[in-house]
Amino acid sequence: ERGRGSYRDLPVPTVIGHRGASGYRPEHTLGSYQLALDMGAHVIEQDLVPTKDGHLVCRHENDITGTTDVAGRPEFASRRTTKKVDGLSLTGWFTEDFTLAELKTLRATERIPGNRQENTVYDGRWEVPTFEEVLRWADREGRRRGAPVWLYVETKHPTYFRSLGLGLEEPLARLLRRYGRHRAGSPLLLQSFEPGSVRRLAKLVATPRVVLLSGPTERPWDFVESGDPRTVADLVTPAGLKWIASFAQGIGPTLDLVIPKDAAGRLTEPTTLVADAHARGLVLHPYTMRNENTFLPADFRRGTDPNAYGDVFGAFRAYFETGIDGIFSD
Ligand code: G3P
Ligand code: CA
Repeated sequence: ERGRGSYRDLPVPTVIGHRGASGYRPEHTLGSYQLALDMGAHVIEQDLVPTKDGHLVCRHENDITGTTDVAGRPEFASRRTTKKVDGLSLTGWFTEDFTLAELKTLRATERIPGNRQENTVYDGRWEVPTFEEVLRWADREGRRRGAPVWLYVETKHPTYFRSLGLGLEEPLARLLRRYGRHRAGSPLLLQSFEPGSVRRLAKLVATPRVVLLSGPTERPWDFVESGDPRTVADLVTPAGLKWIASFAQGIGPTLDLVIPKDAAGRLTEPTTLVADAHARGLVLHPYTMRNENTFLPADFRRGTDPNAYGDVFGAFRAYFETGIDGIFSD
């Protein structure tokens, strides 16, 4: 029965299937979302980017070179281009250069075949899903299970896309209204690394919202664009958290902002972020837990005793002991 009403009724720690069950299936496919649900994740995450004709599709970023078969498709060879996205110069194929109909001819592939070779057997099995397809899938699964399927939706590169005339928040809000997920009690959370996008969403829908926080010295891209000098280090102060609490209900910090690592990459003592955020009424959903020791080995050692948390569940426990409300996990 839990999870029917407010996000505050979700089980704690809330397990958020990061890009679905992306440790086991190519990310952001209906197969990955379904597996995450079947494995018991409480909430399933989508990252959203737009197509050329303004449809919202689920991809971690607009560059689809590594997560689809586009590079092997001769008909799209001329679409390969170099562009700047949020200050980074990238070469490849990008969602905003494809109509939805064109994008739908592509097939999803495993992002990191070197680490997740077993996932490559699913390459080619699924399309790039639209967010509307995910809403329909969630409704269907919710009816089948007799309990709503919770989604956790991130707007990616909103300032960049806005500069192209491709707003993310308005089409997202339209879809949420159409599928009845725009209210405060809807089984959905919204998130963005750009506080400006979270603030725009706050004006459009009542769905709870989370501000994502990256490295302490980094600036949210809309701060860079607007000349706002604040960095993430400013946002995790009591004053910064108070500001976030004026338009959001939670924060999604990196794991390092919860338990920093020492020079050798071992976990040290937790920061006061959990207590400070809770004092402002904000929930904390850090990212990202992965079970591959080869991927982020430093996460699996703690303090001076490398065996104290020598297994993946031990490392997870170190974070859970800080009092976080949930976790994004592959
Ligand atoms: O949304 C939490 C987490 O997904 C943020 O990181 O880069 O995987 O979207 P990213
Ligand atoms: Ca994300």
